[in-house]
Amino acid sequence: MITRMHQLSPQDLVDRLQWRYATKKFDVSKIIPDEVWSGIASSLVLTPSSFGLQPWHFVTIRDRKIKEELLPHSWGQAQVTDCSHFVVLTAKTSMTEAEIDSFLARTIEIRGGQIDQLNPYRDMMVGFTKNMDDAAKLQWAKLQTYIALGQLMTTTALLGIDACPMEGINPTEYDRILGLEEKGLTTSVACALGYRCSEDKYANAPKVRFDKSEIVTLI
Ligand SMILES: Cc1cc2nc3c(=O)[nH]c(=O)nc-3n(C[C@H](O)[C@H](O)[C@H](O)COP(=O)(O)O)c2cc1C
Repeated sequence: MITRMHQLSPQDLVDRLQWRYATKKFDVSKIIPDEVWSGIASSLVLTPSSFGLQPWHFVTIRDRKIKEELLPHSWGQAQVTDCSHFVVLTAKTSMTEAEIDSFLARTIEIRGGQIDQLNPYRDMMVGFTKNMDDAAKLQWAKLQTYIALGQLMTTTALLGIDACPMEGINPTEYDRILGLEEKGLTTSVACALGYRCSEDKYANAPKVRFDKSEIVTLI
């Protein structure tokens, strides 16, 4: 168990977040080492979700040929092919009692106890999902993937890895190329990861954000 953690200073945190930017040009020659990728993959797994249901799967593409297939369905954005690891964040298309029971079984596997003890929690989750039609459930699942996207961008920044979040993609074509429909998944959003190219002029552009007083209220 982790009892003590190295604490970042607030200024270090802000510096890290200032360093991060939506990378437009990746250095094609630089590949994320396996042990670094392993930490990033763990950060995806550790993303919190509503009820803990984890209605997602993260398909990560290293294969050049698949990246090239995706490129014309990504508004031609070269980050798709030039990055080291291209993460497609997909949402589960189904959230029924079967998925809820699989999550509860996993809870017992990890924490022990009797499944019956989780019945009140089960009823709450079943009630929550039954109140939504399929479109609303999918929208809910896609919202969860954006939590993973946020976590991914922050954790990669902390590791000194560059990222470009990408909504400029065609989910229908991505689903077809990656064979997602038969896996019960659909594309939500993507994120290219790797190392910035020294010529990317956006790297040093000042951040455009509204003033803190307009964005954050402390009461
Ligand atoms: C959900 C999301 C989708 C985005 N999609 C794209 C994209 O398709 N292509 C791109 O170049 N940038 C994309 N961006 C990057 C934003 O334009 C960028 O984050 C924003 O302008 C703020 O700049 P900064 O990230 O460099 O601070 C996206 C950002 C987010 C959060």
